Amino acid sequence: MLIVSSLAYAAQVQIAISTDHTDMVLATNKANQLMFMYYGTKVGCPQQFEQFQSYRRSDYSTEPLAYPARGGRFFNQPALAVKYSDGDANTELTYSSHETKNISSDVKQTTVLLSDTKTSLEVQLVYTAYLKEDVIMAHAVITNKGKKDITLENYASSAINLKASSYLLTHYYGSWAREMQVEHELLTHGIKTIENKMGVRTTHTENPSFMLSLDNSSLDENHGEVIAGALAWSGNYKLQFQMDETDRLSIICGINDYASAYTLKKGATFSTPEMIWTFTTSGAGQASRNLHDWARRHYIYSKGHLAYTLLNSWEGAYFDFNTKTLTDMIDDAAAMGLEMFVLDDGWFGNEYPRNSSRAGLGDWQTNTQKIPEGIAYLADYAHKKGIKFGIWIEPEMVNPSSNLAHKHPEWIVKSSGREITTTRNQWLLDLTRPEVQDFVFSVFDETMKKGEGKIDYIKWDCNRHVESFGSTWLTEQSRFFVDYTLGLYSVMKRIREKYPNTIIQSCSSGGGRVDFGALEYFDEVWTSDNTEALSRIFIQYGTNMIYPAATTGSHVSAVPNHQTNNITPLKFRFDLASTGRMGMELQPANMTKEERTFAAKAIQSYKQLRHLVQDGDLYRLVSPYDGNHYALMYVSKDKKEAMVAAFCIHYQGRTKTPKIRLHGLDPQMKYSIEEINNEKPSFWGNGKTFSGAWLIGQGINPQLVKLYDSGIWHLKAQE
Ligand code: DGJ
Repeated sequence: MLIVSSLAYAAQVQIAISTDHTDMVLATNKANQLMFMYYGTKVGCPQQFEQFQSYRRSDYSTEPLAYPARGGRFFNQPALAVKYSDGDANTELTYSSHETKNISSDVKQTTVLLSDTKTSLEVQLVYTAYLKEDVIMAHAVITNKGKKDITLENYASSAINLKASSYLLTHYYGSWAREMQVEHELLTHGIKTIENKMGVRTTHTENPSFMLSLDNSSLDENHGEVIAGALAWSGNYKLQFQMDETDRLSIICGINDYASAYTLKKGATFSTPEMIWTFTTSGAGQASRNLHDWARRHYIYSKGHLAYTLLNSWEGAYFDFNTKTLTDMIDDAAAMGLEMFVLDDGWFGNEYPRNSSRAGLGDWQTNTQKIPEGIAYLADYAHKKGIKFGIWIEPEMVNPSSNLAHKHPEWIVKSSGREITTTRNQWLLDLTRPEVQDFVFSVFDETMKKGEGKIDYIKWDCNRHVESFGSTWLTEQSRFFVDYTLGLYSVMKRIREKYPNTIIQSCSSGGGRVDFGALEYFDEVWTSDNTEALSRIFIQYGTNMIYPAATTGSHVSAVPNHQTNNITPLKFRFDLASTGRMGMELQPANMTKEERTFAAKAIQSYKQLRHLVQDGDLYRLVSPYDGNHYALMYVSKDKKEAMVAAFCIHYQGRTKTPKIRLHGLDPQMKYSIEEINNEKPSFWGNGKTFSGAWLIGQGINPQLVKLYDSGIWHLKAQE
């Protein structure tokens, strides 16, 4: 397979954006346009690119532009569409210059300057190459150097071009409590779009990320060419895959242009969000590991933080608690060995008490009926018990029944003269407005102050999307969607300057804000409101294809499960929670003594293994979509330690034991295997030592045959 874009005439300037194992090559043609030549295994910038002939009709102008702009002879999907003050809607970008600089010993940045042939529009394409992780991050900086304002009608972050015989797109879809379901589809001619237009809570239905298998009709974990992509943006997004009549695929990703024409004043610059690309010849597993390594080492906020185990009050108490309920939960959390207690929704509002979702949002004063002693008392209580303390806020929202809604009706997102609709009984605050940004910052800041220095964690929720978009602040309504997200990021920047060490979770009715844009400021995400372990397998399987396991909260909750009614064994629930950032979300007072003893043991075991989940390499061993089992493993970077987890998700008779072949181990090393959280080990090899080669070739065959049987094994290299 050759992933080569075509070029009908000789290249003049060639630019290679290289990582340790990949090259992305751009080159100018004789018309001085910047073309996207290649993305794949290392080829450098050989002379052949200069002589390359695509045999396409150059007078049709269908060659692959590196940043295709609407107009001129170009007629495919544009990355950039501009309308000028004279009504002209054409842009024809040509190459001006480029430079590459070292950001660090293993990060290089190449900036290519393009300019329009007629106007004073400039575009910088900025490519940041992470050498070791084989990741390239790309964005565009658009500057209006002219004397008149212009309108950006489309302003994507990045475009790439590929040529393969087939393209299998793997992407994620879902809904509330069923996020990140994995779907595969062989692309056909025409355009496939993955997008969201809901403004906020943008990742329930689709996610701004994907994998693309080249020349392969199924997603292979370990072999074959795979490109993965993810857009770092928490607002409306659009990922477009256009296959043309020559089977060339053009991928354009960025902010959704839906209702978002953006005036760029004279002299002004717009910087698009980062698009993250990775390429590998070693299958989807390696694509995930590249993204995870890049995210953990370079991008997400929680680099190197320890992700604490916690008890969250939501499913255990909902809105119904007082100080005693909470201090009892803190006692129970500490007794089971959890490291943090998180007080969820319901702690605030007096005149409009937050006793249900119908009132109180916006009035962030501690409810004196429920917690007369105050938040600092609870935080102090937790600290005295040796555990950390976290608290929930939803600062972007307001209930109509609140003092805030009465005081500041102008702060609410609304379209002039139209009805303001409620979702979950609430309205959205207009984060495009500077005073609202100040207010949202102050909700965080004041909540932190309530804890008198003892709040360690904030769960930031966001439980509705945008409807009837509009702002009484903005003069240009079509800026709303973009400025909302920029407003959120500006608040997060302020928060991070003041609170660099507070752990912050991005929650949005579960997984509604799961994207790399959020993870630049937030330490982790609440993966889903569905805490039921079987559903969660599918949700976490999809989420961790792109986002590292350490950033995905995974809680053990009560049965029958509150979302699905399903009943799964406690061990199954704990084993699954062990594959992410473990937590519990139930009323411990309702657990039996045996259940508490089991929980304490499972939490203790997780603490011994969590460095593998947090820092190790993820190998997906058996897909839950493929049969009766789900299995995965995490391997330490030095390959001396690993954790394997397996789950029976369909009953298929008592004799159909799975054969789980392991990956990522050193074939030359010898590993001891110890099953944890199980008094009667399910694998005959428990306590024995096996060579890495044996485990890779033969694998393990645990007796996980009954529905919801599960196992976790700790592998340790023997000297
Ligand atoms: C939605 C979140 O996803 C839940 O975890 C919980 O925090 C509720 N909101 C509280 O209202």
